[in-house]
Amino acid sequence: MFDAAETKRENSRVSTYLFRVVLVVLKYQLLINGEWVNSESGETYQRVNPAEPDEVLGEFQKGNAVDVEKAVGAAEDACEGWAETPAPKRAEYLYKAAQLLTQQKEELSRTMTLEMGKTLADARADVQEAIDVAYCAAAEGRRLLGHTTPSEKKDKFAYTVRLPIGVAGLISPWNFPIAIPARKVFYALVCGNTAVLKPASDTPICATRLAQVLEQAGVPKGVVNLVTGPGESAGMALVKDKRVRVVSFTGSKETGATILREAGIKRVNLELGGKNPVIVMDDADLNLAVNGVLWGGYETTGQRCTAASRVIILEEVKETFERMLLEQVRKLRLGNGLNADVDVGPLVNKAAQDKVSRYCEIGLSEGAKLLAGGHVPANLKGWFFEPTLFTDCKREMRIAQEEIFGPVVCLFSAENLEDAISLVNSVDYGLSSSIYTNNFRNAFVAINKLQTGLTYVNSPTIGSEAHLPFGGVKHSGTTREGGPDGTAEFTELKTVYIDYSGKLQKAFLD
Ligand code: UN1
Repeated sequence: MFDAAETKRENSRVSTYLFRVVLVVLKYQLLINGEWVNSESGETYQRVNPAEPDEVLGEFQKGNAVDVEKAVGAAEDACEGWAETPAPKRAEYLYKAAQLLTQQKEELSRTMTLEMGKTLADARADVQEAIDVAYCAAAEGRRLLGHTTPSEKKDKFAYTVRLPIGVAGLISPWNFPIAIPARKVFYALVCGNTAVLKPASDTPICATRLAQVLEQAGVPKGVVNLVTGPGESAGMALVKDKRVRVVSFTGSKETGATILREAGIKRVNLELGGKNPVIVMDDADLNLAVNGVLWGGYETTGQRCTAASRVIILEEVKETFERMLLEQVRKLRLGNGLNADVDVGPLVNKAAQDKVSRYCEIGLSEGAKLLAGGHVPANLKGWFFEPTLFTDCKREMRIAQEEIFGPVVCLFSAENLEDAISLVNSVDYGLSSSIYTNNFRNAFVAINKLQTGLTYVNSPTIGSEAHLPFGGVKHSGTTREGGPDGTAEFTELKTVYIDYSGKLQKAFLD
């Protein structure tokens, strides 16, 4: 699938003598109907290491609508055979994929750090999440539960069965370059759908590796296809294609809204952004809360849809908590994620760095007080941003309402739990929330009233597990991925009535 000979980048440099280093740029291809091919467009693009933007990682196909058309055709042709493969047999390919991912874990993790910048430890967790998801999805191959229920008529039997939907168009983000595409592809496949994966343009290598793993696992040709390329052309062609019966997208709410508008009548599963809050009550273990905010706010450089971006602290403990957190934020070490002593890697690209810078300016202009960070560090050449902490934030501020997707945490104070809950619910988003408290009443009130798809008690807003449903409410999304509930995303629930009475029985009349 690579054609190393095709593209070469020459780079000369002077040392004691003049000599030439020839850097080979690997060329990656699309996977359509079991063949690795170039894009019909003839165009390619390069991706560089976000920690070292001089380092080119590879050359990738700029897939277009024609490539998508072919990939969807291949997926459609493969549909019948794959749907007829018994689900426990489909699952066997996923068990094999889990084993291959386990064998390749270390090398894949390093590739991920190079490709999108997260620290190596964080990248290992990403690959591990994909492995766990593979086992969870595979287990569904022996469940795929429907239900039986009594009919209101005599000698009549009723049940439901989960059937495949057809071709799945899967559009995945760059922040979990293996775990999220894995979750989409594995669940789509075990449910009997075939797939076209369009990964984020910033992480084509990880997506290619995932497709290769499925190829190595022996998944029949056409069942999984991969098209790299721009969202506006390749992604939108996939969304609009009538033969694609289900779209699953993870990304920004703006793109999610466009997809909903453009998709036509089909199943559209959306996982969108977050503005995830942590409530710190006056009875909380403050050390635990500080560690939770640090982890939830700055891990993956804050580039998680579940990242903690708002911390709402009861007035009684605000000053102490703020001081304790600031002390820890100042200790976070920024740098290349491959170095073991680094806590926070770079942002994914220059546009992300500009966006985070802009939000820091907005925060200052809105009257928030900057306690730490707020700048692009002068001494690093990658797309880094200092771990940033704002305080005295107010709910109307843009930095309190909009997703920044970077290492920026905003502190608020609240008079009591009700005040804190109303602040949490004052945004459009509703993905993850957390409360630190030792009072079970506080915990249960928060669990019931926080408008989010996930609520954590005494743990960070990040760290969802593979076998539990994942997803948000309000503008954070429309679906739940993972676990037994995850099969609902990729199946049609058919209701079956079998009348063995031998006579006409009229519903609601007889
Ligand atoms: C995301 O940020 O897009 O809970 C997904 C977590 C991860 C998944 C995050 N397991 O942080």
